[in-house]
Amino acid sequence: MVKVVETVAEVREQVAAWRREGLTVGLVPTMGYLHDGHKSLIARSVKENDRTVVSDFVNPIQFGPNEDLDSYPRDLDHDIAVVEQGGGDLIFHPSVEEMYGKDFDFYTYVKVEELSSGLCGASRPIHFRGVCTVVSKLFHIVCPDRAYFGQKDAQQLSIIRRMVRDLNFPLEICGCPIIREEDGLAKSSRNTYLNAEERQAALCLSRALNKGKAAIEAGETDAAKVRAIITEEIEREPLSKIDYVEIVDWNNLKPVDSTEGSILTAIAVYIGTTRLIDNFIIER
Ligand code: PAF
Repeated sequence: MVKVVETVAEVREQVAAWRREGLTVGLVPTMGYLHDGHKSLIARSVKENDRTVVSDFVNPIQFGPNEDLDSYPRDLDHDIAVVEQGGGDLIFHPSVEEMYGKDFDFYTYVKVEELSSGLCGASRPIHFRGVCTVVSKLFHIVCPDRAYFGQKDAQQLSIIRRMVRDLNFPLEICGCPIIREEDGLAKSSRNTYLNAEERQAALCLSRALNKGKAAIEAGETDAAKVRAIITEEIEREPLSKIDYVEIVDWNNLKPVDSTEGSILTAIAVYIGTTRLIDNFIIER
């Protein structure tokens, strides 16, 4: 039976009890409204650890002033059912006050330089500082052996790996593959914003990435040409508006001219007013 707690003290007490029994702990950080992507992270944590904690917290400090903090979907009962079915043990569902003090009595942020300014960071300048701060807090609260993040947020995964390395967090970061709908759309809580026409239009993201990947597999090494193939495919969709199409070195997130190394091809596209992201990574 999954237990839901709202305070840092309760999480610490439960994790300490598990530690006394010599059990290992996995953490799946989420903002709730759990979908199949989250389910896959929970399943992997349950497989690799004795106990699994799922944090369920819409983190206000990672949303910019004109972003979707207020409309971000929330459904705790659904989340409890998903974690229960997935075999998770504890849901940490804190209030904003529990995490950041009364009236945001909070001064300390964690920022990973270099990796946070490009890609999504270019149009979301405070986003990764907010992510790193909340994830650091969760790591200190839960003290997990392992933490699980989806590759759909590839820049986030790269930044968190770097933060853990730079700040000597004693845990392993486990990256998990993108989970897709049958027609190719990457699973995301934000897909719920799409109406039927937009849902269809959103397929241009995975279609464009597939074309780009096929071109690389067929021998295309010029990153500019691959970006052009992806851009052209997205622009064929009238409801789309590109935020970025980038090919970067997967090790340092710097743009590359050639597709021959380990690369992340990442895109962010508005479908109507909904901003969606998707990517593929080639590791060599
Ligand atoms: O990927 C997310 O859902 C969030 O950015 C995270 C890691 C839970 C931090 O709020």
